[in-house]
Amino acid sequence: MDLEALRAALDGFQGLAIRETATQLVFADGNPQADIMLIGEAPGRDEDRLGRPFVGESGKLLDRMLAAIGLDRQSVYITNTVLWRPPGNRKPTPAEVTAMLPFLVRHIELVAPKAILMVGGSALSALFDFDARITRERGRWRDYPSANGPIPALPMFHPAYLLRQPQLKRQAWQDLLNFRERLDALGIPTRKPDDT
Ligand code: URA
Repeated sequence: MDLEALRAALDGFQGLAIRETATQLVFADGNPQADIMLIGEAPGRDEDRLGRPFVGESGKLLDRMLAAIGLDRQSVYITNTVLWRPPGNRKPTPAEVTAMLPFLVRHIELVAPKAILMVGGSALSALFDFDARITRERGRWRDYPSANGPIPALPMFHPAYLLRQPQLKRQAWQDLLNFRERLDALGIPTRKPDDT
């Protein structure tokens, strides 16, 4: 199976009611060859309209956060835990996250990243532990047991949450630096601020 086949399988998946209220499947953005895979929560209104993840307000903040550690949509592959917009931008339910999990697992296997950034609690819940709380777990590395071997995965706050709680940006900044340190250790290149 390749990414196009995964997308086709999702197009044919009838197991979730939210696809009836969503405009379209929001599959992924960025570079499928990238060493870094970023996993968010679910598409919002703008993503649902445009068919790309993280293109609204929180996407703009996400782009700035990535730029701060020398990353962009060429060096990162971006997807979500749930790939259809939940109505009214509500949080996906545990049942929705569970229904999407086999697709997410396969998605990670196909992209085979060297590091994973989980933005928000939904990705952390899906991949590790339904009861994990992002406020406690952010900044703590875990190993995601992919079919190709363990992949270091870091949970951090979701940019939409940071827009509502700007005082948490300092912690988010620590997590981003922590992420970059690990990328350096793994030999994954990032642009340094003095690069042009
Ligand atoms: N929030 C997410 O988690 N994903 C998106 O694609 C947009 C907003």
